[in-house]
Amino acid sequence: MNNLRIGVPSKGRLAELAEELLNQAGLNFRRQDRSLFARVRDMPIDVTFLRPDDMPLLCAEGAIDLGVTGSDLVGESGVELVERLRLGVGKCRLAICVPEESDFHQPSELGGCRIATSFPRITEQYLRSHGVDVHLVPITGSVEVMIALGVAEAIVDLVETGSTLAANRLRILDEIGRYETVLVQNPDRRHPELADRVVRRLEGVVIARSYSLLEYNIPRSKLAEAEIITPGFNSPTVNPLEDPAWCAIRVMVRRGDVISVMERLEVLGASAILETQITNCRL
Ligand code: PRP
Repeated sequence: MNNLRIGVPSKGRLAELAEELLNQAGLNFRRQDRSLFARVRDMPIDVTFLRPDDMPLLCAEGAIDLGVTGSDLVGESGVELVERLRLGVGKCRLAICVPEESDFHQPSELGGCRIATSFPRITEQYLRSHGVDVHLVPITGSVEVMIALGVAEAIVDLVETGSTLAANRLRILDEIGRYETVLVQNPDRRHPELADRVVRRLEGVVIARSYSLLEYNIPRSKLAEAEIITPGFNSPTVNPLEDPAWCAIRVMVRRGDVISVMERLEVLGASAILETQITNCRL
């Protein structure tokens, strides 16, 4: 009972992402069948498998110390939690959507309409800030078909790739917020040292996933310009080469920028440009 308790989503996409991340951070556990608990190997930590939408409230109530869930669900729950880490996965937008061919151009035109959503709290706050009075239809799923069913004139739903909207011939009228998977903590911060250790471990993996290690050789005369292209996390490592006119650089680069950075370095005169993927780090 005195172990640190971490809540992990019990099913769905988020469950796989969370389990993979924790394992990669050296928090190894095995879920047996449909069991709701698992013990982390060699650490005084218990994992509890919970529905992501219950996670914020259960964390606020102290049933778990740390929890992996969506920041959208934290916002919707209205409870006070400490957001310790953005996990870099599950990125999505919450948007107010209307039929493609409808005449709505801005949210203020929705006064008196029915809006279906599984995010009534966030939706209400957003509409209130726009001074719009609507009839909310709170539902827990299949929001995208509610207009076709005649239950609403608009919906507020999560958009990731936009395929669900396209399939239902809907378009975004306005974006309400951007969200992603986060690690939250109960404000009492029990087991502070162990909790911080878990956060640092996860942070190492999250940063490693979003950066690559780039190595290249560059004429010393171009070093200053190269450092502008690749400033690094703190600063790049510069090593001498046998040829005194050249040096070798090692530097962290955002994974999404690697290709364009390589192209710019090549134009500058760099050679032997290599990308290495890192799986973990401490910076
Ligand atoms: C979410 C959301 C949309 C869909 C958007 O549903 O409610 O239906 O994803 O993603 P897209 O823009 O990539 O199509 P999810 O699959 O999480 O299941 P849910 O309906 O049970 O919430």
